[in-house]
Amino acid sequence: MLEGNRLPSERFLVEFPARPTWAEIDLTALVHNLGQARARCAAGQKILAVVKANAYGHGAVPVSRALAKAGVCHFAVATLEEALELRFAGLTGEILVLGGCYPGQEAQFFAHNLAVAVFSLADLERLDRVSAALNRALSVHLKFDTGMGRVGFFPSQAPEVITRLRQTRRLKFAGLMSHLACADDPDSPVTFQQHQSFRAIVSHFKAADLLPSALHLCNSAGLCDGPLPEASMVRPGIMLYGGYPAAPENSGLDLRPVMSLVSQIAVLRELPAASGISYGHSFHTPSTRRIATLPIGYADGYNRLLSNCGEALVCGHKVPVVGRVCMDWIMLDVSQVENAQVGDRVVLLGTDGHQTITAESWAEKTAGLSYEVFCRISQRVPRHYLPVAVG
Ligand SMILES: Cc1ncc(COP(=O)(O)O)c(C=O)c1O
Repeated sequence: MLEGNRLPSERFLVEFPARPTWAEIDLTALVHNLGQARARCAAGQKILAVVKANAYGHGAVPVSRALAKAGVCHFAVATLEEALELRFAGLTGEILVLGGCYPGQEAQFFAHNLAVAVFSLADLERLDRVSAALNRALSVHLKFDTGMGRVGFFPSQAPEVITRLRQTRRLKFAGLMSHLACADDPDSPVTFQQHQSFRAIVSHFKAADLLPSALHLCNSAGLCDGPLPEASMVRPGIMLYGGYPAAPENSGLDLRPVMSLVSQIAVLRELPAASGISYGHSFHTPSTRRIATLPIGYADGYNRLLSNCGEALVCGHKVPVVGRVCMDWIMLDVSQVENAQVGDRVVLLGTDGHQTITAESWAEKTAGLSYEVFCRISQRVPRHYLPVAVG
């Protein structure tokens, strides 16, 4: 399982085995989850796959390649850098930069055929000036704030935006979009209000005979709740990676976790009763215990809030994290696992036998979200890709 590391030194390549901590990325599960998203789409709706933040920590390039192979043609990222990473890796589909184009970045959007979300008149005019000067078209998706309170034109600005859009010379008006704030709460009235507001904005553009081909509003939770049927696209992120946008039991979805986090027992020792474990001695062994030490810590994204409450799977048994999570190590009480030994595979996120540790269960213990659990798995942890199973 271990992949060799190759580091260039001054005169020769040094090769050595990697530290035994890695994330497994199951691309078959990714494609399965894509199928779940597609099953929720209204007729004709396309997937605009959200692969920002390194595909929520899963690796933007391999994830996007697998999605492209499965028929996805539209990708959304947050930044120009993220878009360029995909283009330089040879991805040819449409790439929409959700975070916009900052002054000075324009040339890259033209050079690499990137689409951009626009949420201010000043940006609309700047982008038009540059595209007119270069005599090159640039695809823009106009973003309206229908209730997220973050970025976007106000719905009341629709007539003014239409007037200014008519004055642009070389921009290609490719999309109208908004973002849902409360779709993960099925009881919230906000989602319905946002649907209505988006519909009203679309009507303004339709009446002005300026309807773009792409209309999109729904994230994973919105898609699961019931996508706006007149939208032409949906923008799922977390559900592609196997994270449930709402309580799993209410979702009717069959999502499969894509990322597993795995390490190995590096040190195994028997410690006498009353031994203090890790910084601050926040845990003392209540009796003689077998304590396993693993080479993973908060620098790898193993949240320090899991100190004394995290769990791991060793030989199919669920065992507790004891003591504080360190930067590079964690300790487990494996006393109940008689046959545990140095080198044993330990699952910190994922499945071993009949036991599973989900990102949602981590998130509950750390007052966070599954999104954060994935995004925080640091670059220090190599990603191993399990290819899409054929058949
Ligand atoms: C504008 C936009 N659209 C879609 C998404 C995808 O959301 P989710 O991961 O909840 O499906 C995000 C995620 O943050 C987003 O910012």
